[in-house]
Amino acid sequence: MLKEPRLLKIGVLGAGPIAQAAHFDAVRKARNAELYAICDRAQDLAERMAVEHTPRKVYHDYDAMLADPEVEAVIIAVADQFHVPLCSKAIAAGKHILVEKPLGVGVEECEQLRERLRGTGLVFQIGNNKRFDPGIAYAQRFVQEELGEMISFKAWYYDSTLRYTMTDNLQPIMLSSPDILRPEGNPKADKRRYFLLTHGSHLVDTARFLAGEIAAVQARLLERAGAFCWFVEVEFANDCLGHLDLHIPLRGDFEEGFAISGAAGSVKGRGYLPWFFKSSEVECFSSKDRLYRRPLGEDAHSYKRQIEGFAATILEGVPQHGASLEDGMAAVRALVAIARSAESGNWVRLDQVKGAV
Ligand SMILES: NC(=O)c1ccc[n+]([C@@H]2O[C@H](COP(=O)([O-])OP(=O)(O)OC[C@H]3O[C@@H](n4cnc5c(N)ncnc54)[C@H](O)[C@@H]3O)[C@@H](O)[C@H]2O)c1
Repeated sequence: MLKEPRLLKIGVLGAGPIAQAAHFDAVRKARNAELYAICDRAQDLAERMAVEHTPRKVYHDYDAMLADPEVEAVIIAVADQFHVPLCSKAIAAGKHILVEKPLGVGVEECEQLRERLRGTGLVFQIGNNKRFDPGIAYAQRFVQEELGEMISFKAWYYDSTLRYTMTDNLQPIMLSSPDILRPEGNPKADKRRYFLLTHGSHLVDTARFLAGEIAAVQARLLERAGAFCWFVEVEFANDCLGHLDLHIPLRGDFEEGFAISGAAGSVKGRGYLPWFFKSSEVECFSSKDRLYRRPLGEDAHSYKRQIEGFAATILEGVPQHGASLEDGMAAVRALVAIARSAESGNWVRLDQVKGAV
């Protein structure tokens, strides 16, 4: 594995499933990062992860990790409800932040966080790893440079009823502990809310990455046979016709996809369950040369690539295409708007939403 001479020293908060499946491995493989510390309230879990991933330090107390001057940046990989308060602590400690998606669960807490970040000069990135899927990144460049004025945008995200059959084979065997720290109650029990936050945050961010700002939404939700299906009409700031489709879970394969048309071309993309580490298959047609272009995207470890982008922004001062705090806020606004619109049937403008998903 090729490592650069200057490595960003990262402390990972949370040794739960996403850290075990993605972040520990991703930081270790990233060309410009070092897994400096692991922190989890569950001591046994942190120790077992440390044996496997060999960080220099193991912490059981987040404040202690933040007080370590060697830690330059943190990855916050804990439950959604904890994101904003734990980001605030990291800002106060002067650490750069990569926080898992969604940024938060409500509009106001995200706005307060923006105030705390303002003027600090810290790099803040949301874990919208799909932006670092090479197929999606290629599509985004094509849209910017060659598609011309956008006419229509459709995107969909289907989780699969069979996802755990696949992930059990693809991911390491997950370890847990009786001492893990979880939010009060069980936020995952409210599936309508949980699915929108956890899966909808990917769909909305991909839509914004490819098509730009979302101004308003009108959503319908059908709950049938254990599935939740949102159809969302979208008013984009660019005035194209927009539609999002979130279906959790589908009796069929996992799939993310998009179809975009513009004045000078069109784009089609299909993405796979991320744990296959396979690039989305993207075809871009350009009217200019009347050719379809299809990138290979051989390095599709999107979790590693997002860390490389994060570290490059900090170490080289080169902004990458990761999701910013503003992007994370806009995604939370879109999710709240979809939730409210599905209840009322009305169009909901994003700049007017308040409250939580
Ligand atoms: N990007 C993706 O593809 C993707 C996939 C899955 C999950 N996620 C996101 O990752 C996040 C974490 O998911 P998870 O399933 O790993 O969470 P989890 O709640 O199962 O695990 C989090 C771990 O963090 C520890 N922890 C929490 N607060 C702590 C604190 N203050 N101090 C020390 N330790 C603390 C807990 O003990 C636990 O071990 C969620 O926001 C989720 O949306 C992202």
